Amino acid sequence: MSTLVLGIESSCDETAAAVVRDGRDILSNVISSQVPIHTIYGGVVPELASRNHIMNINGVIRQSLSDAGVTLDDIDAVAVTFGPGLVGALLVGVAEAKALAYGRGLPLVGVNHMEGHVCANFLDYKELEPPFLCLIVSGGHTHLAMMEDYGSFRILGQTRDDAAGEAFDKVARAIGLGYPGGPKVEAAAKRGDPEAYHFPRGKVTDHPYDFTFSGIKSAVLNFLNHASMSGETVRQEDVAASFQQAVVDVLVERAVAAALSLKQDRLVLAGGVACNGALRAALESACEREGIRLYRPRPILCTDNAAMIASAGYFHFLKGDRADWSLNAVPGLEL
Ligand code: KG4
Ligand code: ZN
Repeated sequence: MSTLVLGIESSCDETAAAVVRDGRDILSNVISSQVPIHTIYGGVVPELASRNHIMNINGVIRQSLSDAGVTLDDIDAVAVTFGPGLVGALLVGVAEAKALAYGRGLPLVGVNHMEGHVCANFLDYKELEPPFLCLIVSGGHTHLAMMEDYGSFRILGQTRDDAAGEAFDKVARAIGLGYPGGPKVEAAAKRGDPEAYHFPRGKVTDHPYDFTFSGIKSAVLNFLNHASMSGETVRQEDVAASFQQAVVDVLVERAVAAALSLKQDRLVLAGGVACNGALRAALESACEREGIRLYRPRPILCTDNAAMIASAGYFHFLKGDRADWSLNAVPGLEL
């Protein structure tokens, strides 16, 4: 008998719901993006995100059930992101999931958003099972971790300051590309020269798997300031390409070093920055060179979605993990 989990995700600026069978098969995956709303402001406005979630969430859930060809009667459990993320945004999903679970007498499972990102891989690689090494690169986090078992992680390293996605977003703003930063920097970088400028590849002394991206970001900002004061014109595309190359170099170097020293022959990529074509290509060739198999979900499963939350929720459900009615949003939830 199969288990259907309804996943709900509202941690940032996507309102999403999905129905997933046995943690692996997507029956529906509905994502209502708020990008056009936040673009006007150059970034996510938390209050607007919450307000749009509350307006859209019922329609998104209804759509996810109808796309899957099921009703709430067919659902076995409700899984919801309860952190990390924006508190007001998270509360909308959590309250909705609780109401549904309570009203229908369904089990409720709370999901860590970062774990969800990793579980996106289970949807595209049916045979993939932990333990494995993963590189999680999102707007708020950059982690190198071992997924030891379903629902259980050992952190090897993380960023000391900005997340990789955050650096993309800040540099996008500085070079006048606006929000959302990552895809816009990537598009500009395709027309630029990655060797036009050299930005530092930050290291954290004595912590080989930690990251620091604020130095790269500051170097770009300083470079732009100098150029503007001296009246020098810079090509936006060259700055984008050189910045992207610096971030990609750091991510590839650290992930491959971890795989080699931990004798891991698999590397699992996750999070919004995993959409980046330059990162995917560079990791692919480095992994091929070192005999490491690279797993990376299709781009729509890398950015925020509820199918990954339903998948993570399913594996917790199997282990008997249940949230009670006191489930709350935890904005700073750790992996
Ligand atoms: O995982 P995600 O959708 O949300 C969080 O959990 O944070 O990641 C969003 C981040 C943003 O910082 C965005 O700029 C970045 O992922 N991103 C990209 C690309 N697409 C999204 N960064 C680089 N290249 C991309 N193509
Ligand atoms: Zn995310």
